[in-house]
Amino acid sequence: MASSHPLSSLTAQEIEAAATLVKKNLSERAVFCSIALVEPTKEALAEPDAFSSIPRKMRLVGYEYNDSNPDGGFEADVNIGAQEVHIKRITEGQAPIGFTDVVRAIQITKQDQGWQEAMRLRGVSNFELVQIDPWPAGGYKHPSIPDGHRAHRAISFVREDAKDNGYARPVQGLIAHVDLTVGKVAHLEDHGVVPLPPESGRYTAEHQPSLQPALSQLEIVQPGGPEFEITGNFIRWRNWEFHVSIHPVNGLVLHCLGYRDKGCFRSILHRAGLSDMVVPYGDTDPMHVWKHVLDAGEASLGNCVNSLRLGCDCVGEIQYLDHYAIKPDGTARRVERAICIHEEDYGTLWKHHDGLSRITEVRRSRRLVVSSFYTVGNYEYGFYWYLYLDGTIQMEVKLTGIVGVSAIHEGDERPEFAPLIAPNLTSPIHQHLFCFRLDFDVDGRTNTVYEINTEALSISDDNPDGTAFQANSTRLNSESEARRHVNAASSRCWKVVNPNKTNRLGKPVAYKLMPSSTAASLASPNSNVAQRSGFAQFNLWVTPCEEDKLCAAGDYPNLHSGSDGLPMWTKQNRSIVDRDVVVWHTFGSTHVPRPEDWPVMPVEYCGFVLKPDGFFDRNPTIDLPPIEHCSENTKT
Ligand code: NI
Repeated sequence: MASSHPLSSLTAQEIEAAATLVKKNLSERAVFCSIALVEPTKEALAEPDAFSSIPRKMRLVGYEYNDSNPDGGFEADVNIGAQEVHIKRITEGQAPIGFTDVVRAIQITKQDQGWQEAMRLRGVSNFELVQIDPWPAGGYKHPSIPDGHRAHRAISFVREDAKDNGYARPVQGLIAHVDLTVGKVAHLEDHGVVPLPPESGRYTAEHQPSLQPALSQLEIVQPGGPEFEITGNFIRWRNWEFHVSIHPVNGLVLHCLGYRDKGCFRSILHRAGLSDMVVPYGDTDPMHVWKHVLDAGEASLGNCVNSLRLGCDCVGEIQYLDHYAIKPDGTARRVERAICIHEEDYGTLWKHHDGLSRITEVRRSRRLVVSSFYTVGNYEYGFYWYLYLDGTIQMEVKLTGIVGVSAIHEGDERPEFAPLIAPNLTSPIHQHLFCFRLDFDVDGRTNTVYEINTEALSISDDNPDGTAFQANSTRLNSESEARRHVNAASSRCWKVVNPNKTNRLGKPVAYKLMPSSTAASLASPNSNVAQRSGFAQFNLWVTPCEEDKLCAAGDYPNLHSGSDGLPMWTKQNRSIVDRDVVVWHTFGSTHVPRPEDWPVMPVEYCGFVLKPDGFFDRNPTIDLPPIEHCSENTKT
C-alpha cells in the first residue's frame, strides 16, 4: 500500500477496515451511505518524494433512524494507518439518501392503510405490481414530519408484470409523505383519481411489433493496441497525464491533469468534476411542483455508477477501471467496469490545400474518452471527458432514460407546462443543471480570470463602414464580479490566465472556458428551489481555492433549508486576482419533452469546452506525422 499513489482509488480492504473502525464508535442502528477518499492537499501532492508519508484518510457518511434524538447523521473521518476515527454529527442538513432509506420508504408506503385504500379507489389491488419511487423531500418536508427526521415523498406507478415499464402508468394525484425515522406515512396527499393511461410503454425488443433490419457490423480495431497506458488510476495518453476517480457526490473526477510539453509536465486542472446538479420542474401540477432533486448531493450520484459492457456501452479498444462503494452494513460493493477509457477517431484535425502548389496537408484528430454512466431513478446520465491532441478538453453530459410523467383526463392538456407524449400521458417541463467545479492550475497555482465579450463598434471616423467589432477583455476582480451569465450575442467566454508564465510571444499563458448556449435556473430567486440550488442562478462563479469545498450546494443538501454553498461562500466577496482560484460553471438543458422522448429518450447532450489560448506557442499538432498515403501531395 505504501508504494501506491496517494490519489489511488479506495480498495475493498480499505473500505471495510475503515467501516469496522467507525462501527466501534457508533450504535448498532448506524448505516453507511457513502465513503470517499479524503484527497491529499496540493502541498502534499507537490512533493512526490514524501508520498509514502501521506496518511490514507477517508470520510464515511451515514445515519441512524433515531426517534429520541434525531439529527442529520454522522460524518466519520478515518486515518486508517493510525487507526484514528473522528466522528462529527451532521447538524445542518442530513446525510444523503441511502439504499436503506429507499427500501424502507417502499415498505412503509405499501403497508400504509390509507395508501392501500387510495390505490383500491384507482382499481389497483395487487400491490406487488406497484412500483414506488421515493423522492427526496427537498425543502418541502411535510409539516407533520418533525425536524431532524429523515423523510421522502413516495409516488406510485403500476406495472402489468414485474418487467413492465411502470412509468407508462403513473398513479396521478397520490403522494405519500414518509417519515422514515418513525417508520410511517405521516401524511397522504390525494388530489383525486385520474384513470391510468391506456398504453403500455414497453421498450424491450420483444415488445416491438417488428424490428428494423440490424445495422451492419462496424468494428473499431487498433491492431497495435491503444495509445494510452494505465497504472492504477493514473492514465497517460500522448502528452496528457492525469488520475481519474469516482467520488460519491462528484462522480467522475479528473485529478492533476496536465500536458507534457517538450518533456516538461505543465499543469492545467488540479481537479475537475461535477460539484452538484439539480433537476427543477416547471410544471404547477401538484405531482411535480415540488420536484428539484440534487442528484449528486442528495442522491449520491457516484454511488449510482453503472457497470459497463463492451460492445454495448463502449466499442473499440477499451480498458475499464472498477469502482468500490460502501454497502449500508460497511462491506465493500464492487462495481466492475465502472470507468471506460478508449480512443476515438474524431475526423479532421487540420487541413489545407495550397492552390498554387496543389499540395494538400491533412492530419486526423483523435481523442481520449474517459466516461461513466449513472442511473438515478428514471434518468440516466453519462459523463464524458474528452482530451484532444491539440490541447482541447471537453465535458459532454449525455442525458437519457425515462422522462417524468403525469396521467391526465382525456383532453385535459396543458401543453405549455406538460406536453402530451402518449395517449393520456404528459411529461412536465424541467431543467437539468450541472455545476462543474474546475480547479484550474494553469502552469501553476497563481491564476486570474478574464471575461471576453466580442462587441460591435459604433460608426465613427475609425469605423466609417460600421464593420468593426472587437474582443474586449475584463478582469474579474472579486467573487461578486464573477457571478456571470452566458451571452451568445457577444460570444462570451472566460479565460483563466497565469500572469507569471508567458509564451514565446511574451503573453501570459491561458486556457479559455467556452460555454455552450446554456440555461441558468428559471426558478424565482426567492423560491425554495433556487435557495437550495443557488449554484444554478449563474453560469459562472469564481472563488479562491478551498480544497475541502467540493460541493456547490454544500456537503449535506438533503433536507437542508438552502443557505449553504456558492451563494453563501461568495458573500465574503474575496479577491480572486492572481491567486489559486476555482471556476464553477453551471450549464444544462431545458427540457420540453417531445413524443420522441417516449418511452425512452434518445440521448440529449450538453457540456462545455476548455481550449488552450496562448498556452502553447503555436498549433501543438503541427509536428504530428502525416499518415501514409495522405502525405503524398495531390499534385497532378
Ligand atoms: Ni429531461
